[in-house]
Amino acid sequence: MNLLRITPSTNSSISSRLWRLSIFLLLSLPDSKGRAIWTAHLNITFQVGDRIISQLGDSGVFGNHSPLERVSGAVVLPERWNQNACNPLTNFSRPEQADSWLALIERGGCTFTQKINVAAEKGANGVIIYNYPGTGNKVFPMSHRGTENIVAVMISNLKGMELLRLIEKGVYVTIVIEVGRMQMPWLSHYVMSLFTILAATIAYLFLCCAWRPRAHNSSMGRQRQIKRDVKKAIGQLQLRVLKEGDKELDPNENNCVVCFDIYKPRDVVRILTCKHFFHKACIDPWLLAHRTCPMCKYDILKT
Ligand SMILES: *[C@@H]1O[C@H](CO)[C@@H](O)[C@H](O)[C@H]1NC(C)=O
Ligand SMILES: *[C@@H]1O[C@H](CO)[C@@H](O)[C@H](O)[C@H]1NC(C)=O
Ligand SMILES: [Zn+2]
Ligand SMILES: [Zn+2]
Repeated sequence: MNLLRITPSTNSSISSRLWRLSIFLLLSLPDSKGRAIWTAHLNITFQVGDRIISQLGDSGVFGNHSPLERVSGAVVLPERWNQNACNPLTNFSRPEQADSWLALIERGGCTFTQKINVAAEKGANGVIIYNYPGTGNKVFPMSHRGTENIVAVMISNLKGMELLRLIEKGVYVTIVIEVGRMQMPWLSHYVMSLFTILAATIAYLFLCCAWRPRAHNSSMGRQRQIKRDVKKAIGQLQLRVLKEGDKELDPNENNCVVCFDIYKPRDVVRILTCKHFFHKACIDPWLLAHRTCPMCKYDILKT
């Protein structure tokens, strides 16, 4: 009986939790994080001796407010120690032969927007920002609201330091930035959540369709078993046929509380364990339905 009462409430709390989770996922879908990340495909070219070396790779990501365009040019550093280009007076040591150039700037010191605008004002065709020292190969899509229509990409600190060292040695480095692939990390997150929901739903349906009927069946089985026990207990109760002169026939003392009739000679009465007696025809159906004595509520299965 307890099983029956607990099971539906557990199920409904699971289903309400599932419901709330689905709503939450639906609401979080058009969230600001739900934008695609565009990788930047970099073709880095420089000359060492007579050899021209080209390095290719998806080593950057476009900023969130950057136009998704191909841009190319010579890589140019800010002058002197001021590699983060936060100072609005920052100068860039631009080589004579380059008509198009990309500023290579260190992350930090001020906002992305500030340093990108400093480079844009000096005439850069694009901005490459490298991550903090110690971040290894990590990159992320920068937020730089309010910049002019200039391509801005982030590359890893390792890649940035590599370029920095080359340029500081006087190597002329050019980079072609091309729009790479679109990645949707939030999508995989969403798909994962969807699978979780699906799995939970299947588990829930399993609970409903496989577990509950069994609980139901077992309670039905118990009811049938009780019926059988009651029948057996009734059969074991004493029977008597009343005859003239029995004290049970005194109409002032006794009448059957089931049919409210007085007892007559040759009536068959059943005597319960509690010593109360009734017409057999009256008490047997009553006991089948109620199991207890109509006078004192004594349970016939208790013996
Ligand atoms: C990379 O850039 C160099 C110089 O601009 C070019 O010669 C080379 O073909 C480019 N490589 C690819 C794969 O685009
Ligand atoms: C940049 O160059 C200008 C003029 O050559 C100079 O006045 C200014 O101080 C320089 N800025 C920095 C940060 O060195
Ligand atoms: Zn009766
Ligand atoms: Zn009784």
